[in-house]
Amino acid sequence: MITSMMPIPSELTILAIDTSCDETSAAVVRGTHVLSNIRYTQVAVHSEYGGVVPSIAKLHHELKIDDVTNAAVEQSGVKQNEIDMLAVTYGPGLAIALEVGISKARSLALEWQKPLIAVNHMEGHLLSVFADRFDVNDLNNNIETPAIGLLVSGKHSELVLINGIGEYKKIGETQDDACGEAFDKAARMMGLAYPGGPEISNRAAKYRDNVLLRKERDQQKLYVCAYTTSGELIDRLPLPMATSDNLDMSYSGLKTAFKHIVNSAPLTDERIGELCVLFEAAALDVLVIKLTKAINIYNPKEVWLGGGVGASQELRRKVNGVGDELGLKVRVANDINLLVDNAAMIGIAAATIANRLGIDLNNLDPDSLIRNKVYVGAKYLSQLDRDPGLSISNS
Ligand code: KG4
Ligand code: ZN
Repeated sequence: MITSMMPIPSELTILAIDTSCDETSAAVVRGTHVLSNIRYTQVAVHSEYGGVVPSIAKLHHELKIDDVTNAAVEQSGVKQNEIDMLAVTYGPGLAIALEVGISKARSLALEWQKPLIAVNHMEGHLLSVFADRFDVNDLNNNIETPAIGLLVSGKHSELVLINGIGEYKKIGETQDDACGEAFDKAARMMGLAYPGGPEISNRAAKYRDNVLLRKERDQQKLYVCAYTTSGELIDRLPLPMATSDNLDMSYSGLKTAFKHIVNSAPLTDERIGELCVLFEAAALDVLVIKLTKAINIYNPKEVWLGGGVGASQELRRKVNGVGDELGLKVRVANDINLLVDNAAMIGIAAATIANRLGIDLNNLDPDSLIRNKVYVGAKYLSQLDRDPGLSISNS
């Protein structure tokens, strides 16, 4: 007989879905172990607009969600009846895009009669660092807190204080554009393709040896200055808010200054390469300066790096450098598909939530589970709604 005294299955098998922006993604995880992670990227569709168009994103999610979900189950090697739970991103993100994933997850939960966990996309980015690393039961024994999370994507640039899995507080964020968005806009100014991050970082990697970078102060402002190897100034960019006391960031001043530079001289391949080195250094140094400030204030034991900009080798090098210098462990997923938007990270977050709540599949209490955003049965599933402006502090 099955009783609630049975051990809680530590490695739940979860089908997760994320449609928060312009990737239609579904994944199957077993605990933190990724069995499949399918991503259909809409980048080509949005590239002619230089950014994501919500109505077009929604349409393409609708076109792809069934195929992507089926492919995730098929590729995982797991049979449908072995899936214990569903998980879906409910925010932050584009409202009409989130709705597509929620609707799909809700209908599968109803059809399969399984619980559905609603997950904060930013918690997913944060916990992506644990993919395939530890069993979910062992996580708490393997991390040292407090930790600082640095989350950098196309829509977010934030610093998070982590006091334990599920205990997060946002301690700094961008006041205007996100870091990834700034890369995308800077690339567009130079006529490069969308998304701009990889475009800029690939060109910067080729030209890095031709450019010497130095930080210089001019009155109260801090600048990144780029020189040729023979010592001629190429240009300089301000590091906005670098000298302010708080942990907030800003990218709009950097963007305006960069536009001015781009328009000041003809854009040869060489000039573009040099400007990519300069822009990348300035955009990433803002993060490193604020991360270092956060470390000095909160004295964490670890740094967790998540989000699409984490795909930047240069950012990883810089953050690892901070970790080495200050004696902190730096955690980051080693697969780019886990850094950019993906559903596996949502499944991993759901696995930690299920573990934390001690969910016993044989003894579910829908009334109490809904308080933790776990939905069981038609009555409760109908109450799940998207929350486009959700913050990591609400997890
Ligand atoms: O996490 P993500 O896939 O989507 C959001 O949640 O926003 O992040 C996408 C962002 C884009 O702005 C893209 O330009 C940036 O990540 N990105 C990079 C790199 N690869 C992707 N930025 C800088 N360097 C990169 N190598
Ligand atoms: Zn994201």
